[in-house]
Amino acid sequence: MPRVLILSGNDLEMLLKPDLLVNEIEKAFTLFSEGATVTPPRTVMWVEGNWWGIMQSYVPGYGVGVKVVNVIPRNVERGLPTIQAVVNLFDPVSGTPLAVMDGGVLTALRTAAASAVSAKYMAPEVKGPIAIIGTGYQARYQLRFVSSIYRTDEVLVYDIREEAAESFKKFAEDLGFKVVKCRSASEAVERANLIIEASTTRTPVIEGRYLRTPSHVISIGAHVRDARAFDDEVIKRAEVIVVDSREAVMLETGDIRIPIEKGLITIDKVYELGEVASGKKPGRITKEGITIFKSVGLAIQDAVAASVAHREAIKRRIGKYIDL
Ligand SMILES: NC(=O)c1ccc[n+]([C@@H]2O[C@H](COP(=O)([O-])OP(=O)(O)OC[C@H]3O[C@@H](n4cnc5c(N)ncnc54)[C@H](O)[C@@H]3O)[C@@H](O)[C@H]2O)c1
Repeated sequence: MPRVLILSGNDLEMLLKPDLLVNEIEKAFTLFSEGATVTPPRTVMWVEGNWWGIMQSYVPGYGVGVKVVNVIPRNVERGLPTIQAVVNLFDPVSGTPLAVMDGGVLTALRTAAASAVSAKYMAPEVKGPIAIIGTGYQARYQLRFVSSIYRTDEVLVYDIREEAAESFKKFAEDLGFKVVKCRSASEAVERANLIIEASTTRTPVIEGRYLRTPSHVISIGAHVRDARAFDDEVIKRAEVIVVDSREAVMLETGDIRIPIEKGLITIDKVYELGEVASGKKPGRITKEGITIFKSVGLAIQDAVAASVAHREAIKRRIGKYIDL
């Protein structure tokens, strides 16, 4: 009878700090882009008008992770998280279930770690304030992780919900940042050098004409085929465009698919984060350039984050066991 380790969101917060997780997620992307993982595209289904995903991956040296996740924007009105998930970790050789954990927290942690890897390679010498557009659940993790790599004191925030911007402002001030609430996304964009889009928008919130030089844009929202978080001008002005997976972004976001279909860019000019981290492709060409990292989220991130959490939990005796 397998003994399965249960890890709560609080356990994961204790176990997966930026200094550990960013490096592990970087390795995950490198393995993925080398073709060393087994990662079929996720299965997407629509339930009661909402997006559900089943995401599975085997990452050698880590394990097999399977996540069931949903994105329910109207949960904001119910006082529930927009993203809820459970991640299962299995031993790749025996197939034995090893752990079950809170996939909502794990998703936020691993997504933020990927954004931090992009900042490491794409904005190494960029300086200036961070702008955050969409200040909900992910935004808090994005700020903590990205600012562990990209140092700044000042954060500009914008959210269509005033209460979300206000509560995020308090959160960021408690971390020691000077925070300015902006009246529009454009105002935040034109005053910052690193822009994080973490919203549930379906239409562009980042307009290219407002981007400063140099700047680095991180966009984690707009994860359905026709949705866009930034406009064509962002694509036209970018000197480097990096994604988590070329295959996944073509299937799952309008931000890359639509500009390619319009002929504004070709897919061979879109690099993967793993190619950049391994030095095969550049993350930045000029000091003054504009760079973009677009992610939709990959199962490799969940498998690696879950496996690292499991390894660390055993070392530190965190979590609870159940007999299945
Ligand atoms: N790329 C990835 O790996 C990955 C992983 C997790 C979540 N996500 C995506 O991140 C996004 C945010 O998720 P969350 O869990 O923080 O959701 P959330 O509901 O907690 O926060 C989203 C925020 O965006 C705001 N918003 C919506 N439209 C906006 C607009 N036009 N301008 C400014 N703000 C706007 C909402 O008011 C809300 O505060 C979602 O699109 C989700 O799918 C991506």
